[in-house]
Amino acid sequence: MPTKIEKDAVTGTETTGHEWDGIKELNTPLPKWWLWVLYATIAWSLVYYVFYPAIPYVTGATNGLLGWSSREQIREQLAEAEAARADYLDGLREVELAAIPDDARLFEFARRGGQAVFNENCAQCHGVGGAGNPGGFPVLADDVWLWGGTLDAISTTVQHGIRWNDDPDTRISEMPAFGEMLAREEVGQVADYVLSLSGGGEGTEADLEAGASLFLDNCAACHGEQGEGVQDLGAPRLNDAVWLYGGTRAEVIDQVARPKHGVMPAWSGRLDENTIKMLSIYVHSLGGGE
Ligand code: HEC
Ligand code: HEC
Repeated sequence: MPTKIEKDAVTGTETTGHEWDGIKELNTPLPKWWLWVLYATIAWSLVYYVFYPAIPYVTGATNGLLGWSSREQIREQLAEAEAARADYLDGLREVELAAIPDDARLFEFARRGGQAVFNENCAQCHGVGGAGNPGGFPVLADDVWLWGGTLDAISTTVQHGIRWNDDPDTRISEMPAFGEMLAREEVGQVADYVLSLSGGGEGTEADLEAGASLFLDNCAACHGEQGEGVQDLGAPRLNDAVWLYGGTRAEVIDQVARPKHGVMPAWSGRLDENTIKMLSIYVHSLGGGE
């Protein structure tokens, strides 16, 4: 059938000439506003072609009159960010560790920087956010501290490590292996006494009494007479429910007989002074004290 363009009687619009079962298709023109928007975008693209990199060729693209490039822009932004960071890092270098919390902006920079470094270097042992791991990797996000939770104490621990033989200033203290010094029964008795300090454990009255006197003779010098712990010796508090190596009777007996002597690496030398400051601020912010 030949196409026949005619005027639609109802709307006065031309038809396209297509017709199906007596229904004719109208050729309604595009709205004016739509066309103008289209022309405007074409005009805009021409201007864009002239000023910005646009037309690709094999190894690059036209440069545009403004000489702008996204690479250059990133480079500038990075340089700006680096300069801002350098400002903060200079600030950190000049301020004593103890004074950082007084400067809110510097503190926030240090805390966040410390968090990033922590996740990279410390989280495999201490858990993300300092949540700790079983087997002697202490929780850092609480207010229970083996070696002290002040900014200074934390900084010393991080710099020199614990039982880290390569560092002459490392923190050292070694619980003796009482499995070689006490009878099996005595180890059980002193373990029962230790557990009773935090309201747990079994053991008869006589066991606990024997355990108490064994404790005073062998343990109190490091752990304190009430088992309150001595931070200068890294000897944990025993009269609470927080355990480094587990709080079952078997675990306590095992620790008393064969202490684990956990090792924490020294970080001075591996991380610069500023980074250690940031780490100390971050760890302290998790649960440190005065
Ligand atoms: C290889 C495992 C390991 C890594 C990595 C590690 N630590 Fe430790 N950390 C330990 C162990 C084990 C202890 C507990 C030692 C003990 O028994 O006294 C400890 C103890 C500490 C303490 C003392 C906690 C207290 O209660 O006094 C601090 C603070 C600490 N670590 C911070 C860090 C920071 C910060 C990093 C990262 C720069 C880090 N650690 C990386 C194993 C590790
Ligand atoms: C020279 C100091 C010293 C003496 C003495 C000592 N300890 Fe310890 N004790 C420590 C240190 C340090 C730790 C930390 C873990 C490690 O080094 O193995 C510890 C850890 C423990 C733990 C593990 C605590 C936990 O949170 O898991 C128990 C339990 C314990 N000691 C019981 C005893 C008992 C019982 C005695 C006496 C029979 C004793 N200790 C004597 C220094 C000492």
